[in-house]
Amino acid sequence: MKNRKITSIDDLSAKDIHSIAELAIKFKKSKKRIAGNKTKNIFNLFLEPSTRTTISFELAAKNLGYNSVNINFEKSSLSKGETFNDTMDTLMSMKPDALVIRDKNNFSPMNIAKKSNVPVINAGDGTNEHPTQALLDYCVIKEIFKKKKIKIGICGDIKHSRVAHSNIKLLSKMGYQIHIIAPTYFLNRNELIKINDKIKFHKNLNYLEKLDVLMMLRVQKERIPKDAKNMMKSFKKEFCLQNNHLLNKPYLMHPGPVNRNIEISDEVLDNYPKSLILKQVEMGVYLRMACLHYILK
Ligand code: CP
Repeated sequence: MKNRKITSIDDLSAKDIHSIAELAIKFKKSKKRIAGNKTKNIFNLFLEPSTRTTISFELAAKNLGYNSVNINFEKSSLSKGETFNDTMDTLMSMKPDALVIRDKNNFSPMNIAKKSNVPVINAGDGTNEHPTQALLDYCVIKEIFKKKKIKIGICGDIKHSRVAHSNIKLLSKMGYQIHIIAPTYFLNRNELIKINDKIKFHKNLNYLEKLDVLMMLRVQKERIPKDAKNMMKSFKKEFCLQNNHLLNKPYLMHPGPVNRNIEISDEVLDNYPKSLILKQVEMGVYLRMACLHYILK
């Protein structure tokens, strides 16, 4: 049998997504460590900064009774000039049971998975995808809305957001109505229509109160260095969420980290009663336990 992998939402059927989410929610309800698993070595290679994803993968492995081996750019020989391919050959020679990778280059998890027998999980590749974030977002939505097919808005820097791309693929696959809210400089409309031609597009925040859930995105300033300052200024003026935009209607999500007062104002971030942002972080651990279980079973 071919190795299981989660390098993209494309690797998963609707049935896989449903099973992974059910298992994550079960892990969350039981709040238990899973004892008695045969020891496995999970390598976490993070070549871009991360707080939530890296810690949740480490906790997830430990909760399952596995060893978690963490490597980042500064601590690796990549920082001494070793090539990416040589580093990968080196890591694979140590025979990990699974590799979790975050990289600034689009498609590098897919390329590794093609060349190796080791199961690979994509923890974020450039502007392409962040499938485990989309899976955990789906779990949080499913916990509240069960099977109801609600209206979900995704707002902000869609073009540079791997979270948005994975969420659009996942929510389309699971039959949700998707509303994209973004200025033209943050939109890759043609690419999105190829994924789902029923997506509705909005150029301002007027539609928010008709949504059940609003996912705000981080402006990816490190991926748009030349124009980032102007874009952030312009985005802040037109799209920074204030209480009067939400009127306590939609649940609010954000993958984190938030650019305070660019995407979301302090008043909303600190006080909005329907914010799910920290629930997303909590679910991250259980979802990543379910993902490790899925690729290693
Ligand atoms: N959402 C997310 O990927 O956060 P980190 O960059 O902190 O892992």
